[in-house]
Amino acid sequence: MSQPPLAAYPALRLRRLRQADWIRRLVRETVLTPGDLIWSMVVHEGEGRVPVGSMPGVERLSVAEAAKAAVEARSLGIPAIAVFPHIDGARKDALGSAAADPDGLVARAVKAMKDAAPEVGVMCDVALDPFTDHGHDGVLEEGRILNDATIERLVEQGLMQARAGADILAPSDMMDGRCGVLRRELESAGLQDVMIMSYAAKYASAFYGPYREAIGSGKLGTGSVDNPGDKKTYQMDPANSEEALREVALDIAEGADMVMVKPGMPYLDIVRRVVETFSMPTFAFQVSGEYAMIMAAAQNGWLDEERSILESLGAFKRAGAAGIITYFAPRAARLLGA
Ligand code: PBG
Repeated sequence: MSQPPLAAYPALRLRRLRQADWIRRLVRETVLTPGDLIWSMVVHEGEGRVPVGSMPGVERLSVAEAAKAAVEARSLGIPAIAVFPHIDGARKDALGSAAADPDGLVARAVKAMKDAAPEVGVMCDVALDPFTDHGHDGVLEEGRILNDATIERLVEQGLMQARAGADILAPSDMMDGRCGVLRRELESAGLQDVMIMSYAAKYASAFYGPYREAIGSGKLGTGSVDNPGDKKTYQMDPANSEEALREVALDIAEGADMVMVKPGMPYLDIVRRVVETFSMPTFAFQVSGEYAMIMAAAQNGWLDEERSILESLGAFKRAGAAGIITYFAPRAARLLGA
């Protein structure tokens, strides 16, 4: 027996601090609160609320419903909402021309939410994919996503969002250099208080699957040489960790105020490394596939839904995240308040 008898170490009883709830609460290292959550919300052109099949409990909201939801966020103590638009197929084209429409769905949703609850922060994705008919985040030419041509479009989109009242721009496209150009253009437009939270380490992940249904972006590409079926030439290889640090370093140098790691739970190691390396406010996105996994298992009776939701969100805090972008936000805030 290599293990000495416990009696040799009478002081080493780690269970002593776990014996009752009061002492567990006293020695708890991290705490999840509604103030840690950014509500990931899908909006649509139509009326009312439409359930998203692949994400039980998530609905697409009309502009009017989104305004009500902003009021709900305020009363639940949720600091901010991230808006994702479901755009009618007829309005999409190869260039994503509708992305910068000042009268479009995103602009109207942002204005309605800020009017209804000005105390709640509103964040917008800067990327073309909800608006392109091929579903890629940028301008597609002969099978290639053009970096600099895409950035020109993203700047128009970002300025439009900022003028509509968005507090945070979140470039999620993974083009090189977009944070720097966006920051420069915001400054020269007199929009210097608008924050940038960059999707700095964003991976080419399978876990975004249900989001495609949620925003109606259909099947990505055709898989042909002219229209790739994945985003691997711009989003990161899931095998890489050092590269994540280079991505984050660049976005910070270019003027990002906050950075994000995405997806969340399978990439907690990246969250931890980014926090330790840069000491920047670092957010994690608990993406659609993570939401769907928990809900599917819970609906089968395989997981305890409420405990799984709170444990998954608490894990981000333990990893060092400043906050979490999540579709569970209203649900979790209610559970935490109870
Ligand atoms: C668009 C974007 C995506 C998500 C957020 N912004 C999809 C993608 O990059 O393919 C994913 C959100 C989710 O899965 O919940 N660039």
